[in-house]
Amino acid sequence: MSVIEWNQRYQTTTTLPLQPCKVLADYTYLLPTTGIALDLACGLGANALLLARHGLETHAWDYAETAIKRLQAKAQSQQLQIHTQVRDIIASPPPADTYDVIVVCHFLDRQLSPALIKSLKPNGLLFYQTFTRTTINEAGPKNPRFRLADNELLHLFSDLQIVIYHEEGTIGDITQGFRNEALLIARKIIV
Ligand SMILES: C[S@@+](CC[C@H](N)C(=O)[O-])C[C@H]1O[C@@H](n2cnc3c(N)ncnc32)[C@H](O)[C@@H]1O
Repeated sequence: MSVIEWNQRYQTTTTLPLQPCKVLADYTYLLPTTGIALDLACGLGANALLLARHGLETHAWDYAETAIKRLQAKAQSQQLQIHTQVRDIIASPPPADTYDVIVVCHFLDRQLSPALIKSLKPNGLLFYQTFTRTTINEAGPKNPRFRLADNELLHLFSDLQIVIYHEEGTIGDITQGFRNEALLIARKIIV
């Protein structure tokens, strides 16, 4: 989808889910209690709201201005401070050595991976969750370019220490479990 389409979607849809991703909701306890966090391609920013509520200095970027405006209004209504930016994250990736936490949910651009690793401070944590090509139904993007191959997050972030990795594919009883997506939490270790 283009930035115009994303803007239209956020303008017209009032029913979009505003829940944090599983990778953040289930593992909130792994977050540091202080530091700087970035929610990248934040959309309506459910993850950013969680990070700010947790007490982190929170930044949230997306190129869809309508999403950023809605997030800013939501943050103000909850008396949370979030540093929002309308920003194309491919044209302007995050700067090196800046963040203690980076969250990416339901966004995939492989060329950004080295910049994400560089952008973490030592001991910084990456929380990543997105759609896989191995699926049990048609949820998520149709274009395979925007879906992960099996184990791909492990390869993209192999320079980091893997803390949590979760991908179930189509194994076992597919009426249960975490399907269609993979999630990873990884830490930047400086040796
Ligand atoms: C599927 S939504 C996910 C939003 C949010 N992370 C979530 O999980 O609810 C993908 C988001 O990526 C944003 N996006 C896509 N390409 C982008 C780019 N080059 N720069 C910034 N944001 C981008 C879109 O505007 C959209 O909000």
